[in-house]
Amino acid sequence: MTGAMHFAALDTALEHLWQALGRAAHDRRSPWHTPVLASVGLDGAPQARVLVLREVSRELRLLRLHTDARTPKVAEIAADPRVSVLCYDAAARLQLRLGGRARTEVDGPVAERAWADANLFARRCYTAPLAPGVAADGPTSGLPPELERREPTADESLAGRGNFGTILLTVDRLEFLHLAVTGHRRGLFKWDSGSSLWTGGWLVP
Ligand SMILES: Cc1cc2nc3c(=O)[nH]c(=O)nc-3n(C[C@H](O)[C@H](O)[C@H](O)COP(=O)(O)O)c2cc1C
Repeated sequence: MTGAMHFAALDTALEHLWQALGRAAHDRRSPWHTPVLASVGLDGAPQARVLVLREVSRELRLLRLHTDARTPKVAEIAADPRVSVLCYDAAARLQLRLGGRARTEVDGPVAERAWADANLFARRCYTAPLAPGVAADGPTSGLPPELERREPTADESLAGRGNFGTILLTVDRLEFLHLAVTGHRRGLFKWDSGSSLWTGGWLVP
């Protein structure tokens, strides 16, 4: 995926990072396809979990992720939109730490389009009658029993629509760490809203 040459200059590093992120959204085998999203818990403690990266727009500095709208992360983001996203590619020895602000959309056009594009198997996750994270009497998938072993019909999948939401994250901070025997490289880019440009600088790794 990468080599030290990408990190010899800040502009090539920034280019490479956005390209790799964009590819990761469409490549299930990319380690960046399943980043860690950290939010601020309602009690102020950090909360981190793995999510699937669905779409990246470099122009809009936007990441799209999907979630059950009943999960704690949705309430956390509503209370405090500050989030961090962490990606690591072990083969490329490349860590990416993103910072930004997120919002959840359940009813808007982005969520409508994402739901329309979701296949029936993906929609099944959202048909669980009880919210994710609710205590259960025993081991359970949470799914309606009739959907345990098959995908829902299009009609059955509609039961999940109200539980489906998109998390839209606007990135305003992007930090990389590339490990190499010839010398690690670390850099930080911050979005400057005045100039509408990324301003980058090197950090000691
Ligand atoms: C590989 C993997 C992919 C996951 N993808 C998602 C996802 O796309 N959206 C999501 O809400 N949860 C996803 N999860 C589950 C979350 O990690 C988490 O357990 C769940 O969303 C509840 O999070 P919360 O209680 O912090 O809100 C995934 C978990 C794994 C292990």
